[in-house]
Amino acid sequence: MSYEITKVVKGEEVHFKKPTAEFYEAVGGEEGMRKLMYDFYDIIYESDIANFFPQDEEEFEKVKEKNTKFFIQLCGGPKVYEGETEGMELNEYMIRLHDDFSIYEKSRYEWLGCMEEALRKVDMEQRIKDDFWAYLESFSKLTVNTFSDGSIYYAAYTPDLEEK
Ligand code: HEM
Repeated sequence: MSYEITKVVKGEEVHFKKPTAEFYEAVGGEEGMRKLMYDFYDIIYESDIANFFPQDEEEFEKVKEKNTKFFIQLCGGPKVYEGETEGMELNEYMIRLHDDFSIYEKSRYEWLGCMEEALRKVDMEQRIKDDFWAYLESFSKLTVNTFSDGSIYYAAYTPDLEEK
């Protein structure tokens, strides 16, 4: 199946809900999450946004590993990413980390497309996948900071953007 992606509107508040622990279980815990995220980056490497990521193998490996740890923690697994956030709240840190890159809506579509492809290979109940997708689709809007008119806008983070 192909997922729907709604458009980013510059300056609009984006509400998101972190994925449920059910996803973490269904994906196969730490090892399953690692497999999913490494698959995802293999697809990224062949995509139109490969140039955003380190071309050096060792550096790219670090990104893969940190990304895996982030998703483990986000989805309710052990807090293995905690030490990386420079004292910031997890979601705030993740938005600000992307400020260093010029991310367009088009880059976001490509990123989400890679994730969709990686997720397709994972066998789990569709409703659990849908919940994970809902998080990705909305949170990814907060990483877009460069617009087709050439303007730049960094999304603000406020805790109430996260729906409990
Ligand atoms: C739901 C949306 C997204 C999430 C949760 C997410 C998460 C992450 C995580 C966890 C990392 C590694 C953090 C670390 O180094 O400690 C990362 C790095 C990165 N992400 Fe994202 N990301 C998202 C969307 C995007 C999109 C749409 C792009 C578009 C190109 C993107 C580009 C990058 C880049 C370029 C890096 C860093 C590579 C480097 O360190 O050299 N991300 N992201």
